Amino acid sequence: MRVRNTPDRYGLVTKLLHWLTALLIIGLIALGWWMVDLSYFDRYYQSSLSAHRALGMLVFALGVLTLAWRGVSPSPHAVASLKPWERLLGHAMHHLLFFMVLAIPLSGYLISTSAGQAIDVFGWFEIPAVIKVGSELRDIAIEVHFYLAYATAALVCMHAGAALKHQLIDRDGTLARMIWK
Ligand code: HEM
Ligand code: HEM
Repeated sequence: MRVRNTPDRYGLVTKLLHWLTALLIIGLIALGWWMVDLSYFDRYYQSSLSAHRALGMLVFALGVLTLAWRGVSPSPHAVASLKPWERLLGHAMHHLLFFMVLAIPLSGYLISTSAGQAIDVFGWFEIPAVIKVGSELRDIAIEVHFYLAYATAALVCMHAGAALKHQLIDRDGTLARMIWK
Protein backbone atom coordinates (compact mmCIF):
# COMPACT_ATOMS: atom_id res chain seq x y z
CA MET A 1 0.00 0.00 0.00
CA ARG A 2 1.31 3.46 -0.89
CA VAL A 3 2.16 5.90 1.89
CA ARG A 4 1.21 9.03 -0.08
CA ASN A 5 -2.05 9.89 -1.83
CA THR A 6 -2.10 9.60 -5.62
CA PRO A 7 -4.44 11.49 -7.99
CA ASP A 8 -7.05 8.73 -7.66
CA ARG A 9 -6.28 6.97 -4.36
CA TYR A 10 -5.78 7.70 -0.68
CA GLY A 11 -2.45 6.56 0.78
CA LEU A 12 -1.78 4.86 4.10
CA VAL A 13 -1.09 8.04 6.10
CA THR A 14 -4.41 9.69 5.17
CA LYS A 15 -6.32 6.47 5.84
CA LEU A 16 -4.78 6.00 9.29
CA LEU A 17 -5.35 9.66 10.21
CA HIS A 18 -8.94 9.54 8.92
CA TRP A 19 -9.99 6.41 10.80
CA LEU A 20 -8.22 7.31 14.03
CA THR A 21 -9.87 10.76 14.02
CA ALA A 22 -13.28 9.24 13.18
CA LEU A 23 -13.01 6.71 16.01
CA LEU A 24 -11.96 9.36 18.53
CA ILE A 25 -14.66 11.86 17.51
CA ILE A 26 -17.43 9.27 17.73
CA GLY A 27 -16.04 8.00 21.05
CA LEU A 28 -15.71 11.54 22.47
CA ILE A 29 -19.28 12.49 21.55
CA ALA A 30 -20.51 9.35 23.36
CA LEU A 31 -18.18 9.94 26.32
CA GLY A 32 -19.19 13.64 26.58
CA TRP A 33 -22.89 12.78 26.39
CA TRP A 34 -22.46 10.18 29.15
CA MET A 35 -20.11 12.06 31.47
CA VAL A 36 -22.13 15.29 31.78
CA ASP A 37 -24.81 13.33 33.67
CA LEU A 38 -22.37 12.10 36.31
CA SER A 39 -22.42 13.83 39.68
CA TYR A 40 -19.24 15.35 41.04
CA PHE A 41 -18.99 12.49 43.54
CA ASP A 42 -19.37 9.71 41.00
CA ARG A 43 -16.29 7.46 40.95
CA TYR A 44 -15.87 8.01 37.18
CA TYR A 45 -16.38 11.80 37.23
CA GLN A 46 -12.70 12.85 37.35
CA SER A 47 -11.28 10.02 35.24
CA SER A 48 -13.82 10.35 32.43
CA LEU A 49 -13.38 14.12 32.27
CA SER A 50 -9.59 13.95 32.19
CA ALA A 51 -9.64 11.21 29.52
CA HIS A 52 -12.12 13.33 27.53
CA ARG A 53 -9.84 16.37 27.71
CA ALA A 54 -6.68 14.47 26.78
CA LEU A 55 -8.27 12.53 23.90
CA GLY A 56 -9.92 15.74 22.68
CA MET A 57 -6.56 17.51 22.52
CA LEU A 58 -5.22 14.49 20.62
CA VAL A 59 -7.99 15.01 18.04
CA PHE A 60 -6.83 18.62 17.63
CA ALA A 61 -3.25 17.44 17.02
CA LEU A 62 -4.48 14.84 14.50
CA GLY A 63 -6.50 17.56 12.72
CA VAL A 64 -3.41 19.79 12.38
CA LEU A 65 -1.36 16.79 11.20
CA THR A 66 -4.01 15.83 8.62
CA LEU A 67 -4.12 19.37 7.21
CA ALA A 68 -0.31 19.52 7.08
CA TRP A 69 -0.23 16.14 5.34
CA ARG A 70 -2.77 17.37 2.78
CA GLY A 71 -0.25 20.12 2.01
CA VAL A 72 2.50 17.55 1.43
CA SER A 73 0.33 14.96 -0.29
CA PRO A 74 -2.84 16.43 -1.88
CA SER A 75 -6.11 14.50 -1.69
CA PRO A 76 -7.17 12.46 -4.72
CA HIS A 77 -9.65 13.93 -7.22
CA ALA A 78 -13.32 13.26 -6.57
CA VAL A 79 -14.61 9.93 -7.93
CA ALA A 80 -15.05 10.51 -11.69
CA SER A 81 -18.74 9.52 -11.90
CA LEU A 82 -19.89 12.17 -9.37
CA LYS A 83 -22.21 14.93 -10.59
CA PRO A 84 -20.87 18.50 -10.12
CA TRP A 85 -23.27 19.20 -7.21
CA GLU A 86 -22.17 15.96 -5.46
CA ARG A 87 -18.55 17.00 -5.84
CA LEU A 88 -19.31 20.43 -4.39
CA LEU A 89 -21.34 19.04 -1.49
CA GLY A 90 -18.66 16.45 -0.72
CA HIS A 91 -15.94 19.09 -0.60
CA ALA A 92 -18.08 21.40 1.53
CA MET A 93 -18.75 18.54 3.97
CA HIS A 94 -15.05 17.67 4.23
CA HIS A 95 -14.16 21.29 4.96
CA LEU A 96 -16.89 21.53 7.56
CA LEU A 97 -15.62 18.35 9.24
CA PHE A 98 -12.08 19.75 9.29
CA PHE A 99 -13.44 22.90 10.92
CA MET A 100 -15.23 20.81 13.58
CA VAL A 101 -12.12 18.72 14.29
CA LEU A 102 -10.32 21.94 15.27
CA ALA A 103 -13.16 24.05 16.69
CA ILE A 104 -14.61 21.47 19.13
CA PRO A 105 -11.30 20.88 20.96
CA LEU A 106 -10.60 24.64 21.00
CA SER A 107 -13.95 25.37 22.66
CA GLY A 108 -13.33 22.47 25.10
CA TYR A 109 -9.89 23.90 25.86
CA LEU A 110 -11.46 27.29 26.69
CA ILE A 111 -13.94 25.63 29.09
CA SER A 112 -11.29 23.60 30.88
CA THR A 113 -8.63 26.32 31.14
CA SER A 114 -11.06 29.11 32.07
CA ALA A 115 -9.82 29.25 35.65
CA GLY A 116 -6.19 29.01 34.60
CA GLN A 117 -5.59 25.29 35.18
CA ALA A 118 -3.43 23.42 32.60
CA ILE A 119 -4.62 20.31 30.75
CA ASP A 120 -2.90 17.12 31.76
CA VAL A 121 -2.41 14.71 28.83
CA PHE A 122 -2.29 11.21 30.39
CA GLY A 123 0.42 12.35 32.80
CA TRP A 124 2.84 12.66 29.83
CA PHE A 125 2.81 16.44 29.57
CA GLU A 126 0.66 19.46 30.28
CA ILE A 127 -0.89 21.96 27.90
CA PRO A 128 -0.79 25.32 29.69
CA ALA A 129 -3.75 27.66 29.99
CA VAL A 130 -2.72 30.50 27.69
CA ILE A 131 -5.98 32.40 27.67
CA LYS A 132 -7.97 32.72 30.89
CA VAL A 133 -11.58 33.46 30.04
CA GLY A 134 -14.04 34.78 32.59
CA SER A 135 -17.15 32.88 33.69
CA GLU A 136 -19.31 34.59 31.05
CA LEU A 137 -17.04 33.46 28.20
CA ARG A 138 -16.76 30.05 29.82
CA ASP A 139 -20.55 29.68 29.62
CA ILE A 140 -20.45 30.66 25.95
CA ALA A 141 -17.66 28.12 25.34
CA ILE A 142 -19.81 25.41 27.00
CA GLU A 143 -22.71 26.24 24.66
CA VAL A 144 -20.48 26.38 21.59
CA HIS A 145 -18.88 23.05 22.54
CA PHE A 146 -22.32 21.48 23.03
CA TYR A 147 -23.78 22.68 19.71
CA LEU A 148 -20.67 21.96 17.64
CA ALA A 149 -20.34 18.44 19.09
CA TYR A 150 -23.95 17.43 18.47
CA ALA A 151 -24.03 19.14 15.05
CA THR A 152 -20.96 17.05 14.22
CA ALA A 153 -22.84 13.88 15.20
CA ALA A 154 -25.46 14.80 12.57
CA LEU A 155 -22.80 15.70 9.96
CA VAL A 156 -20.97 12.42 10.54
CA CYS A 157 -24.22 10.50 9.98
CA MET A 158 -24.73 12.31 6.65
CA HIS A 159 -21.06 11.86 5.67
CA ALA A 160 -21.03 8.14 6.54
CA GLY A 161 -24.47 7.68 4.95
CA ALA A 162 -23.21 9.27 1.72
CA ALA A 163 -20.09 7.05 1.75
CA LEU A 164 -22.23 3.91 2.23
CA LYS A 165 -24.76 4.98 -0.44
CA HIS A 166 -21.95 5.56 -2.96
CA GLN A 167 -20.27 2.28 -2.10
CA LEU A 168 -23.30 -0.01 -1.85
CA ILE A 169 -25.87 1.51 -4.22
CA ASP A 170 -23.85 3.44 -6.82
CA ARG A 171 -20.94 0.98 -6.48
CA ASP A 172 -18.42 3.70 -7.37
CA GLY A 173 -15.74 2.59 -4.89
CA THR A 174 -15.96 5.68 -2.61
CA LEU A 175 -15.61 3.76 0.67
CA ALA A 176 -13.20 1.23 -0.82
CA ARG A 177 -10.68 3.95 -1.63
CA MET A 178 -10.71 5.17 2.00
CA ILE A 179 -10.20 1.58 3.30
CA TRP A 180 -8.50 -0.97 1.12
CA LYS A 181 -8.08 0.29 -2.47
C1 HEM B 1 -16.03 11.71 12.99
C2 HEM B 1 -15.79 11.30 12.02
C3 HEM B 1 -15.28 11.67 10.65
C4 HEM B 1 -14.60 12.77 10.22
C5 HEM B 1 -14.16 13.99 11.04
C6 HEM B 1 -14.33 12.58 8.81
C7 HEM B 1 -13.67 13.48 7.99
C8 HEM B 1 -13.36 13.29 6.67
C9 HEM B 1 -12.63 14.21 5.82
C10 HEM B 1 -12.11 15.57 6.28
C11 HEM B 1 -12.49 13.64 4.61
C12 HEM B 1 -11.75 14.24 3.41
C13 HEM B 1 -10.37 13.65 3.38
C14 HEM B 1 -9.48 14.32 2.38
O1 HEM B 1 -9.86 14.48 1.23
O2 HEM B 1 -8.35 14.67 2.76
C15 HEM B 1 -13.15 12.36 4.65
C16 HEM B 1 -13.21 11.46 3.63
C17 HEM B 1 -13.92 10.29 3.68
N1 HEM B 1 -14.61 9.77 4.77
FE1 HEM B 1 -14.75 10.56 6.59
N2 HEM B 1 -14.86 11.37 8.41
C18 HEM B 1 -15.45 10.79 9.53
C19 HEM B 1 -16.10 9.58 9.60
C20 HEM B 1 -16.31 8.75 8.55
C21 HEM B 1 -17.09 7.54 8.58
C22 HEM B 1 -17.78 6.97 9.82
C23 HEM B 1 -17.08 7.04 7.31
C24 HEM B 1 -17.73 5.81 6.71
C25 HEM B 1 -18.50 4.97 7.22
C26 HEM B 1 -16.26 7.91 6.48
C27 HEM B 1 -15.96 7.73 5.15
C28 HEM B 1 -15.19 8.56 4.38
C29 HEM B 1 -14.83 8.30 2.99
C30 HEM B 1 -15.26 7.10 2.18
C31 HEM B 1 -14.06 9.38 2.55
C32 HEM B 1 -13.44 9.57 1.16
C33 HEM B 1 -14.37 10.31 0.27
C34 HEM B 1 -13.71 10.49 -1.07
O3 HEM B 1 -12.95 11.44 -1.25
O4 HEM B 1 -13.91 9.65 -1.93
N3 HEM B 1 -15.82 8.95 7.27
N4 HEM B 1 -13.69 12.17 5.93
C1 HEM C 1 -13.29 16.43 19.08
C2 HEM C 1 -13.19 16.55 20.36
C3 HEM C 1 -14.34 16.63 21.33
C4 HEM C 1 -15.64 16.21 21.22
C5 HEM C 1 -16.32 15.51 20.04
C6 HEM C 1 -16.31 16.57 22.47
C7 HEM C 1 -17.64 16.33 22.76
C8 HEM C 1 -18.27 16.68 23.94
C9 HEM C 1 -19.66 16.42 24.25
C10 HEM C 1 -20.67 15.73 23.32
C11 HEM C 1 -19.90 16.92 25.49
C12 HEM C 1 -21.23 16.89 26.24
C13 HEM C 1 -21.97 18.19 26.05
C14 HEM C 1 -23.29 18.18 26.79
O1 HEM C 1 -24.10 17.29 26.55
O2 HEM C 1 -23.49 19.10 27.60
C15 HEM C 1 -18.66 17.48 25.99
C16 HEM C 1 -18.51 18.09 27.21
C17 HEM C 1 -17.32 18.61 27.68
N1 HEM C 1 -16.12 18.62 27.01
FE1 HEM C 1 -15.77 17.92 25.17
N2 HEM C 1 -15.40 17.19 23.28
C18 HEM C 1 -14.19 17.23 22.63
C19 HEM C 1 -13.00 17.78 23.10
C20 HEM C 1 -12.83 18.37 24.34
C21 HEM C 1 -11.60 18.97 24.84
C22 HEM C 1 -10.28 19.02 24.07
C23 HEM C 1 -11.86 19.44 26.08
C24 HEM C 1 -10.94 20.13 27.05
C25 HEM C 1 -9.67 20.28 26.93
C26 HEM C 1 -13.25 19.15 26.38
C27 HEM C 1 -13.88 19.49 27.56
C28 HEM C 1 -15.20 19.25 27.84
C29 HEM C 1 -15.84 19.66 29.08
C30 HEM C 1 -15.17 20.39 30.24
C31 HEM C 1 -17.17 19.25 28.97
C32 HEM C 1 -18.28 19.46 30.02
C33 HEM C 1 -18.98 20.74 29.72
C34 HEM C 1 -20.11 21.00 30.68
O3 HEM C 1 -19.79 21.25 31.84
O4 HEM C 1 -21.27 20.97 30.25
N3 HEM C 1 -13.81 18.50 25.29
N4 HEM C 1 -17.68 17.33 25.02
